[in-house]
Amino acid sequence: MQRTQAMISVQPNWDTFHKLRTSEKIPFFSKDDRLYDCLFAQQFSRALLEHLFKTADALRAATRKKEGADHVARLLSHKRAMLYFAQPSTRTFMSFLNACHVLGIKTSEIRDSSTSSEVKGETPEDTVRTFSSYVDMIIMRHPAPGFVEKTAWLMNRTGRPVPIVSGGSGKDQHPTQALLDVYTLHRSFAGELDGKHIVMVGDLKRGRTVRSLTYLMKNYKNVSLSFVSPKEFRMETDILDFLRRHNIPFTETEDFLGVMKTADAIYMTRIQDEHDKSGESKGVDYSPFYFKKEHLKVIKRGCVIMHPLPRRHEIEVTVDEDPRAVFWRQERNGMWARAALMAYIFSVDNKIS
Ligand code: NCD
Repeated sequence: MQRTQAMISVQPNWDTFHKLRTSEKIPFFSKDDRLYDCLFAQQFSRALLEHLFKTADALRAATRKKEGADHVARLLSHKRAMLYFAQPSTRTFMSFLNACHVLGIKTSEIRDSSTSSEVKGETPEDTVRTFSSYVDMIIMRHPAPGFVEKTAWLMNRTGRPVPIVSGGSGKDQHPTQALLDVYTLHRSFAGELDGKHIVMVGDLKRGRTVRSLTYLMKNYKNVSLSFVSPKEFRMETDILDFLRRHNIPFTETEDFLGVMKTADAIYMTRIQDEHDKSGESKGVDYSPFYFKKEHLKVIKRGCVIMHPLPRRHEIEVTVDEDPRAVFWRQERNGMWARAALMAYIFSVDNKIS
């Protein structure tokens, strides 16, 4: 849907807009019927996901040879992107940076807001608007809930909007991680995600990756979910309500061993103790939620073990050697999935074959 002045004027202020349902907000973050700002996993339909997987596969194939890599690197050589990461990041940052370079996009970065004029009292909103004066896209990670969305909303009201791509927003969402996670599932199951049993394990309350990945499950048929966590860190009710609304069956349990036997994918996460306000993680026994080498004998032959990484102790390192451990592949899939997404946002996806 083309954004119109009328649409903008019916959203008079941020507080009103922010309270709308995600489905009502999505048109505001689209342009010419295409996703423009990438903020919520709910923006990915099955058709779009499948298109992006094909594009990512085509990018991988094209760039294997120099001519193909040179062709792809010319597609967006007239574009510049800013990576603004106000929270620690290794993979998301590196994969976006290298995805930009695959497509020829020139990059600049701020990874520490103490080096920007925010320390002089500039509001984060003004700082981000300043970035948009120099670049054609902003890729950002921010600890404050809703800040990435607010930036996109503000930017869309200026005369010079640039797409905002979320690389992680507070505890709420990490849409491109969900994109690469389903891309990994798609590759692991030869495109057949329908009917799968996905088990998500760990700190589900404060992990944004599991939240975004759960939203994407609405695109698949007969998927069932099991949420395995300590009782302190159960999945939030907004996500459980979403699953009920979409008739996606789920169970919640602390019995990891019991549920792993029937899993097609086990998605491990670490404890997110950087979100502790008063030591909530202290005293929580996280060890029942570790994947150990002995569990390899229990899980199905075709089951994949995933992790958004970074890992602490929740997957024993010796597990890495098992072909069902796909988290290192998952990491690399991130670069291709993100490159595909950016090619799509800038409408050059049809030039990759
Ligand atoms: C995740 C994140 O930052 O949300 N990591 C990532 O992006 N690969 C998960 C985490 O930090 O545990």
